[in-house]
Amino acid sequence: MAADIRCTADNLTSWSGDSLAVGLFSGDAGSSSRHLLIERFGTGVADRLEQRRFKGKPGECLSIDLLGQTPSLLVLVGLGAPADFGPEQLRGAVAAASKQAATAGAGQLGLAMPVEGLAANNAAAAMAEAVRLSLFCDQRFKSEADAKPGPERIELLGLSEDAQAAVSASAAVCSGVELARELVAAPPNVVTPAALADTAAAIAADFGLELKVLERDDCEALGMGSYLAVAQGSDLPPKFIHLTYRPAGSVERRLVLVGKGLTFDSGGYNLKTAGSQIDMMKYDMGGSAAVLGAMRAIAELKPAGVEVHMIVAACENMISGGAIHPGAIVKASNGKTIEINNTDAEGRLTLADALVYACKLEPDAVVDLATLTGACVIALGEEIAGLWSPCDTLAKSLIEAGSQGGENLWRMPLRASYREGLKSGLADMKNTGPRPGGSITAALFLQDFVTPELPWAHLDIAGTVWSDKGRGLDPAGATGYGVRTLVNWVRAGGPA
Ligand code: BES
Ligand code: MN
Ligand code: ZN
Repeated sequence: MAADIRCTADNLTSWSGDSLAVGLFSGDAGSSSRHLLIERFGTGVADRLEQRRFKGKPGECLSIDLLGQTPSLLVLVGLGAPADFGPEQLRGAVAAASKQAATAGAGQLGLAMPVEGLAANNAAAAMAEAVRLSLFCDQRFKSEADAKPGPERIELLGLSEDAQAAVSASAAVCSGVELARELVAAPPNVVTPAALADTAAAIAADFGLELKVLERDDCEALGMGSYLAVAQGSDLPPKFIHLTYRPAGSVERRLVLVGKGLTFDSGGYNLKTAGSQIDMMKYDMGGSAAVLGAMRAIAELKPAGVEVHMIVAACENMISGGAIHPGAIVKASNGKTIEINNTDAEGRLTLADALVYACKLEPDAVVDLATLTGACVIALGEEIAGLWSPCDTLAKSLIEAGSQGGENLWRMPLRASYREGLKSGLADMKNTGPRPGGSITAALFLQDFVTPELPWAHLDIAGTVWSDKGRGLDPAGATGYGVRTLVNWVRAGGPA
């Protein structure tokens, strides 16, 4: 059960509860927060800050136990320089303080941060998101919980009741991020293509969305030879999932979100080896997790004027006597023939038919998210996802939506001349180009299945889907990357 998060007009001298976290800028010996701290807790606090060489660097934390007092725990957290302070720094400080307080077993947590300089709604949303997402802890697969429960009551100080609506909206977004994290973290024997379809069905039932699941036969009838070639080596049936949110009232924009949904990627006959992280390839459905999480949030937030479709061509990439051969030639639902020169470049094969289907809906924009290439991980690492789009407005609107939610995107070139690398002597194209620029040729491959002129963007989230150590709001493991970008983007009405 997620903690109750409330805004309160209390400040750090009046708030009462067992644990209080206070943000302090670097180099601000004379700031109002320090004055209020001293007013409430005496000069001993200032001495302790001095003694422990507290500098106020971003994320720096100092805990002080106040035996027999209320609050009994004071967490001081650095905010960095005032000039650099914004929502991102606020989120980081709140996350650091929350983790510190939770480790100490806080039951109630008051967060006193300098929210005056920010719009109250933005500050409230950033803080609420930071607490909840940084304290998220997945214990589903342990027979006994081994983590302390987080605080039950969380209060955001210095914010009036008016900001409470933003906190509620952020709760819907956080539920979406948590759903995505749970889907990504779950092992491949639990999150199967059918389990992804069941998740979509649960969202549809809970929030009144429309759901269509196409079975293998249905996909065959639509000529989805590219997607089905990937699915054919698995004992698990593929599920082509189409979930739709329709707003009350008129539709001004129709948007499609497509997610790569490989519930396991063994590589197929171009089998992955130990060094290629085959054991982590459960997270190859991170794109589908992001779009499902986003749909859950959108369904709860009910934005006006936008119709949102979600498409996931879910399957596994396995080996068996029935698996596709390296070198096989298949035909996608737009009639294009593909020579599969590498069965490990399977994500683009599934996305090809998903994108053709998406374009048939005649949308105003299509965005796909995929853990598509190792090359993107090499290029951008785990903090930044790659973005490819021929459309400047769409690219801009996605980058903006991402930065609002603290998710970083970097626009990469969709350089047409690199398509040469996908030429096949026998078929219309190969599925794999040369190693250099591998994430670019992957994006160019996808572009062949998108209606020309239709605004389309591709996000390669191979690096951002998982964080081994955890960072900022992300605990170690699945990040739920993409949900916040998509929800912010949809709420802003898509491409502006
Ligand atoms: N799912 C992988 C991409 C991936 C790699 C995601 C590492 C996360 C971490 C994808 O299906 C794949 O295998 N891509 C190949 C493409 C290559 C064969 C052209 C890759 O990146 O090596
Ligand atoms: Mn692969
Ligand atoms: Zn893959």
